Amino acid sequence: MSITKESELIGMQKISEVVALTLREMRNYAKPGMTTKELDNFGGTLLKQYGAKSAPALTYGFPGWTCISTNNEIAHGIPSDKKVLQEGDLINIDVSAELGGFWADNGGSFVLGQDLNNHQPLVDASKRILKKAISNIKGGVRIAEIGRLIENEAKRSGYKVIKNLTGHGIGRKLHEEPGEIANYYDKFNLRRFKKNSVVAIETFISTSSTIADTLNDGWTLTGNKGGYVTQHEHTIVITDGKPVILTEMNEIWN
Ligand code: CO
Ligand code: CO
Repeated sequence: MSITKESELIGMQKISEVVALTLREMRNYAKPGMTTKELDNFGGTLLKQYGAKSAPALTYGFPGWTCISTNNEIAHGIPSDKKVLQEGDLINIDVSAELGGFWADNGGSFVLGQDLNNHQPLVDASKRILKKAISNIKGGVRIAEIGRLIENEAKRSGYKVIKNLTGHGIGRKLHEEPGEIANYYDKFNLRRFKKNSVVAIETFISTSSTIADTLNDGWTLTGNKGGYVTQHEHTIVITDGKPVILTEMNEIWN
């Protein structure tokens, strides 16, 4: 969406704080021995307390309030009472929701407890790349150039990117104009970021895979060549200078 008046900015700030705080609290709540269903129910309760509705449940009929993906899962992991979190797991939580007709989206990958499997370098690369990508976005910049930046930074760190998962416009719906914001240079995408518009920027930094495939459950995404993937995501408002990060409170960079 494009922010044209104060009330729209306030609406976006409200829902962005809700998803950011929910993500932050879920990450703090996650402990070894807990099931992903317990963690999701905790997040679902928070969203409800704020009066917000889960975006994936509302938009796609997703069987959970939030997406919780572990280890070799890239995204859209279904919360399950059979999936028990372990020390050293690579976990991704993605929280998106609607409040008062406004939508916001954010996510982050982290290592649970001690880094027993040496996932931290991949997590750190994803955080650093998202930070750099966002700091290079302003009105007039080609969307494809941010994709190029993300892929180049990934390569420089010894990683790849997932090509069929992207950031997106957001605001009045979960996914809207200006469409996909890829993690690579898509020469066919001639669009530019526009001042005052709201977008969700997300990384998909990968050790081996370049394509995300859907599992038989119809939701969970895993890599075509295995390995691990980290995602970090913020909802931002584009300006003439540095973007305003509406979901900053999620502390995914800490
Ligand atoms: Co998301
Ligand atoms: Co998103």
